[in-house]
Amino acid sequence: MKYRPYVVGIGGTTRAGSSTEKALRHLGREVERLGARWEIFCGTQLLFPSYKADNPERAPAARAMVDAIRDCDALVIASPGYHGSFSGLIKNALDYAEDLAGDSRPYLSGRAVGCIAGGFGWQAIGTTLASLRTVVHALGAWPTPMGVAINTSMKVFDESGEVVNPDVRAELHALAEQLVEFARMRHAYTPRQ
Ligand SMILES: Cc1cc2nc3c(=O)[nH]c(=O)nc-3n(C[C@H](O)[C@H](O)[C@H](O)COP(=O)(O)O)c2cc1C
Repeated sequence: MKYRPYVVGIGGTTRAGSSTEKALRHLGREVERLGARWEIFCGTQLLFPSYKADNPERAPAARAMVDAIRDCDALVIASPGYHGSFSGLIKNALDYAEDLAGDSRPYLSGRAVGCIAGGFGWQAIGTTLASLRTVVHALGAWPTPMGVAINTSMKVFDESGEVVNPDVRAELHALAEQLVEFARMRHAYTPRQ
């Protein structure tokens, strides 16, 4: 039987009907179809305090997210473009990766990380995707070749939240395949006792 990777998603906004959250949920269903397990931390679940490097106390929600990242085989980060880069909500969540510095797999090392960037136009999507990938590199992960662009000035979702834009569907499918494939390769490669 094929290994069932654990894929964690972080993203979205606190806005009801967040497009980046919808895209993340679609991605979750795609990886599940490919045999993976998934869990996401979205919007209001990410409203924990600003990361404090000098105080080890953590909100339970922050601890749950960090524990999930620690255990995951692959990660997906989804953010809208806010003023040309990714949102502060997501940056703060990613700052908590500092709590993984002392792990046997420090920060995000050993994991494939996919990025989904949204925006009301292409320009901020490009800069947001590039910013997310810079952070992923800094955290020692393996950014996937596919990065997904959600242009909310176009019709991307239907009324039920389903992704109806064929290009976005194809990109999310390709991203799901890359995450699951890398996680399975990595699992097969990793020596076990
Ligand atoms: C504070 C703020 C800043 C934004 N800045 C930009 C921007 O610089 N460029 C852009 O194309 N869209 C910008 N937007 C639009 C959002 O990126 C876009 O509406 C996105 O789809 C929102 O994501 P959500 O649906 O997940 O909430 C901004 C929206 C907000 C609320």
